[in-house]
Amino acid sequence: MSNLLKAKPIIDAKLPKLLDKSRSLAQRGLKPKLCVILVGDNPASMLYINNKRKKCEQIEAGFELIQLAESVNDKDFLETVKRVNNDPEVTGCFVQLPVPKHLQHIDITQLINPKKDVDGFHLNTINQLYLNDLTGLVPCTPRGIVTLLAENKITIQGKHVVIIGRSLIVGKPLSLILNGLNATVTLCHSHTEHLESHTKRADIIVCAIGIPEFLKEEHISPEGKQIIIDVGINKKDNKTVGDADFEHIKDKVAAITPVPGGVGPMTVFSLMENLLKTTETILKDKTDEQSDSAI
Ligand code: GUN
Repeated sequence: MSNLLKAKPIIDAKLPKLLDKSRSLAQRGLKPKLCVILVGDNPASMLYINNKRKKCEQIEAGFELIQLAESVNDKDFLETVKRVNNDPEVTGCFVQLPVPKHLQHIDITQLINPKKDVDGFHLNTINQLYLNDLTGLVPCTPRGIVTLLAENKITIQGKHVVIIGRSLIVGKPLSLILNGLNATVTLCHSHTEHLESHTKRADIIVCAIGIPEFLKEEHISPEGKQIIIDVGINKKDNKTVGDADFEHIKDKVAAITPVPGGVGPMTVFSLMENLLKTTETILKDKTDEQSDSAI
């Protein structure tokens, strides 16, 4: 059995620091609070949101779920986002994706107040990544993957990372981040020809394509030295499986993230890190405004 890259020991070790930071922000005048807007009642979305609620409780951050009817019209939806954007008690917010078809013409990620963009999807946030700045907000799944690699002492600099999937949420931002961390990045996607010719040469393979058990033995190197990061969360025969064919490749690689228990919990943890960052920035702005008006 290869090395399993589990999230739990990392999160258990890091959570007390986040709790301290959250308490310190509250003492200094701004309690972190996450607000999630959900349209409809998709069970998978409800599950993800509950995981986020539990993590907020663990760091003593506030949490609010605003659930809108599946049939909500554009005007009411937009008004809700605006209200949350302007609510001084909310320090981080996002709209749970996907939204129903009739709202998909709205560029939701750009509607969110960039100061509260805990998802890290706003163009202001992406621009920071483009400029190689990882000190601010970072999209949650890429941030979780980088933390997971770092905590397992897996070198990124100089390594060849092959990412499968070029989504705006995972593949594209991750390629920018890893490039900034001096990896050589190959970004593959559904039109890539001879995928195995890329994946076999990788030091690290990140599979984020959303197809259950897509990454097979034929895609990996026979040397057994590769690291597999599986971003997928798929349902198959009532089981949760990743984008990698775990059972058939786990003994043929150096390390692999389990599903569940790997990238998923790291993503939620990163959301908490982003929430503390947005809260800190909002608090600093508030303090600066107060000292300006005192002059
Ligand atoms: N739906 C599934 N994952 C996510 C996420 O990370 N952010 C948002 N906003 N919606 C999601």
